[in-house]
Amino acid sequence: MVRVRQATRQATLDAGFSLVEQTKVVTAASELARNTIIYGGGGDVRLEVMRDGMRSGVRLTFVDRGPGIPDVQQALRDGYTTGSGLGLGLGGARRLMSELDISSRPGEGTRIVAVRWKQ
Ligand SMILES: Nc1ncnc2c1ncn2[C@@H]1O[C@H](COP(=O)(O)OP(=O)(O)OP(=O)(O)O)[C@@H](O)[C@H]1O
Ligand SMILES: [Mg+2]
Repeated sequence: MVRVRQATRQATLDAGFSLVEQTKVVTAASELARNTIIYGGGGDVRLEVMRDGMRSGVRLTFVDRGPGIPDVQQALRDGYTTGSGLGLGLGGARRLMSELDISSRPGEGTRIVAVRWKQ
């Protein structure tokens, strides 16, 4: 968790994000990392700084080989949890990022790609 937070902070700095934007992305990364650990049983994180013409951004990819998410729309709903959380992590992460894509197949794991472009 600490390493993901630190590396995400650095990636947003490299992308030229404001302090407020940095904090939004670090918060989203924390939620996604916590889910990867708690529900996915651990996994891999990839952080990328993107430059697309005039735009810059960061892309965070979380991959695990846990049980997967049977109903992604339901998992994104605020208040839905199968654990002991508040069920706000995924929905919160989606609101904090420009794009959030979840692909998951039950029994095979979960892959979440989250992008935020610099405002
Ligand atoms: N990587 C994952 N693998 C399997 N299931 C997941 C994964 N990430 C999320 N989920 C499922 O989606 C649900 C909602 O996730 P979300 O982060 O929104 O809430 P939470 O983790 O339960 O609580 P909170 O994040 O508020 O502490 C989880 O309870 C879990 O069932
Ligand atoms: Mg969560």
